[in-house]
Formats: sequence, structure tokens, C-alpha cells
Amino acid sequence: MRIVFIGPPGSGKGTQAQRLNDYLGIAHLSTGDMLRDPRCVATPAGRLALEHMNAGQLVPDDVVIEIVRERLKDPDCAKGSLFDGFPRTLSQAEALDRLLDGSGRPLKLVLELQVDEALLLERLLSRGRDDDKAETIQERFRQYQLLTAPVVDYYRGRGILRSIDGNGSPDEVFAQIKQAVDAISPRSG
Ligand code: AP5
Repeated sequence: MRIVFIGPPGSGKGTQAQRLNDYLGIAHLSTGDMLRDPRCVATPAGRLALEHMNAGQLVPDDVVIEIVRERLKDPDCAKGSLFDGFPRTLSQAEALDRLLDGSGRPLKLVLELQVDEALLLERLLSRGRDDDKAETIQERFRQYQLLTAPVVDYYRGRGILRSIDGNGSPDEVFAQIKQAVDAISPRSG
């Protein structure tokens, strides 16, 4: 099974993908975590990526797509994958379709986490990651509206989007996710 988590910064993609990973036992692919990995940051492309991240901007598509392409070769992805923060542009969404083409495991579900902006800001400011500064967060929100919101529409058009109210507690949000996942026969692959 392949599932995408999509939502603005601070909407709980990482938190919920980890929970779903525990539930389904399939690989959790967070492009943000991969880009922050010291092994990635040590490369020229990784250093360039970090500059974009610290400015609140998206990393160039080719860099991200290559990282995902490589990661999908790992054995733990054979059973399935949860994509957290990828795809974030239409071009990445099309690349993901190509990567999954012929795998026999197409994308079955896209979970969109919807959270009020004031709450997103509160969560991010209290976490304090390098890119969690007020000005950078505003740019991340802007990039989301500009480049990622069209990806939500793309998957809505494909009929595989489920919107989840992400304003509640982690348990409340996960209950909705579990229901959406169970509805598409989680254990069938
Ligand atoms: P990434 O690491 O993906 O960050 P993000 O999308 O900005 O999302 P966050 O990690 O901030 O939030 P989240 O939705 O995962 O929520 P979380 O569970 O952490 O990307 C960072 C950067 O990398 C991007 O800006 C870009 O530059 C680059 N990048 C990554 N992927 C890319 C791609 N595909 N293409 C191009 N560039 C890419 O929760 C946030 C906080 O809230 C935590 O403290 C958590 O404990 C808390 N929380 C979560 N849920 C709840 C809840 N229900 N109630 C209360 N608190 C909660």
C-alpha cells in the first residue's frame, strides 16, 4: 500500500505518519527528514537544499525526486510506503506516478490534514526547529498555498483524496486516519 500525507507545515504529517507506520508496518518516507539527514547535508546538493529550507522555500524538484527514487529501492519499501511531505509540487506528483508505475502498488490514498492557521503557527513556534521562525513559517505557508495546494486538487480529481480534520488531539486525528485506511483494506497491500 502507498499512502501520501499532505498538509501545511505543522499540520501533523510527521506525527501521524509515524503512528500509521506503527499500525501498518510500512516504510515512512519523510523528505524533510531525509534532507536534514547529516549524510545528505554533507553533499553539495544537500547543502543547497538546506539553504532553501532555511529560507522557507521548497527544495528543487530534481533533488527531492532523486532522493525519493533512491529511497524506494530500499527493501523496507517493498511492502509499501507512507510519503510524508512528498509530493509537494505537481511535477513531483507526476514523478511519483512514474516511480510507482509498474510496481503493482499504485497510490491508493492521499490524506490531507486540515488545520487552522493560528494553530499551525502556535505548534511550530513552540517546537522551534531551525526553520520554525515566524518569518520563515510565513514563507512556508505561502509556498504551500502556491505550489502544494494544486497537488491536493490533482488528487481530489483522481478520487483518492480524504480530508482529515487535524485540529484535534493526536489520538483524535489518528482515529479518523485509521478509519480512512481501514476503509481501503489496509492489510491487502
Ligand atoms: P518538512 O520537514 O516536511 O516540514 P513541513 O512540511 O514544514 O512540516 P513540519 O515538519 O513542520 O510539520 P508536520 O506537518 O510534519 O507536523 P509535525 O507532525 O512535525 O519540510 C521542511 C522543509 O524541507 C520544507 O520547507 C522544504 O524546504 C523541504 N522539503 C521537504 N520536502 C520537500 C519536497 N517534497 N519538495 C521540496 N522541498 C521539500 O508536527 C508539528 C508540531 O506540532 C510538532 O511539535 C508536533 O508534536 C505537534 N503536533 C502534531 N500534531 C499535533 C496535534 N494533533 N496536537 C498538538 N500538537 C501536535
